[in-house]
Amino acid sequence: MSTVHVASFLHAASHTFTHVVADAATGAAAIIDPVLDYDPSTGSQGTSPAEALLEHVAAHRLQVRWLLETHAHADHLSAAPWLKMRLPGARLGIGAGIVEVQKHFVPEFGFDGEVAVDGSQFDHLFTDGERLRLGDAEVRVIAVPGHTPDSIAYLIGDALFPGDSIFMPDGGTARCDFPGGNTHALYRSIRRLFQLPDATRVFVCHDYGPGGRALACETTIGAEKAGNIHVGGNVDEGDFVQQRTARDTTLAPPALMAPSIRANIRGLQAPVP
Ligand SMILES: [Fe+2]
Repeated sequence: MSTVHVASFLHAASHTFTHVVADAATGAAAIIDPVLDYDPSTGSQGTSPAEALLEHVAAHRLQVRWLLETHAHADHLSAAPWLKMRLPGARLGIGAGIVEVQKHFVPEFGFDGEVAVDGSQFDHLFTDGERLRLGDAEVRVIAVPGHTPDSIAYLIGDALFPGDSIFMPDGGTARCDFPGGNTHALYRSIRRLFQLPDATRVFVCHDYGPGGRALACETTIGAEKAGNIHVGGNVDEGDFVQQRTARDTTLAPPALMAPSIRANIRGLQAPVP
């Protein structure tokens, strides 16, 4: 596996990490899970997190080929539509399971007839096992349903971007109580990721700094297998499902869930606050 360069940008308000992945040989790059600022009290959006990405892209002379979503996020608005207008040639991709997410939320939000339930708002819908090139690096798509039905992980060179399936080892795993979430599926998805080489670098999407430790976003498959507090070691599916389900009953919905989903299921169409 080729080594790729990864620059990670923290969006502090949503505890989200956006990753800019670049093939060093060619400068071909992908931006994974970019974020907009959003003020729920006014409905106003801010582009400064995305502008920082553009500055990085320009400084390193990267050619952004892809804007990649690991799933339709429920806690922040995606900056991909804004970035796409400023990065000619970049395509927006998400997992094919977005159609299932749209099937649930389009009627719920009253978007019937306004938002097509076919994923056509995105440039490309990725399916499990799909492979593509990012310059000299290979991108492999791994479906990781569980947190949401559209969740996918991207393995780019030696770097894995698991989205909201696994967090840092001491952060455990993502909740499964959103529509279409499935604790059994999440366990099996993570077991598939654990088949990757131990040295595979892992760049997580969120970190909340459990126990007061500094926020972090990089670990390895070996460290996750050994020490993930929810799914590391020999935890079996039944135990995981029991613990994950119990924990999910204690979690409040994300503060920005409604505006985030309303915007993020619309892909390149203008975000709706
Ligand atoms: Fe998520």
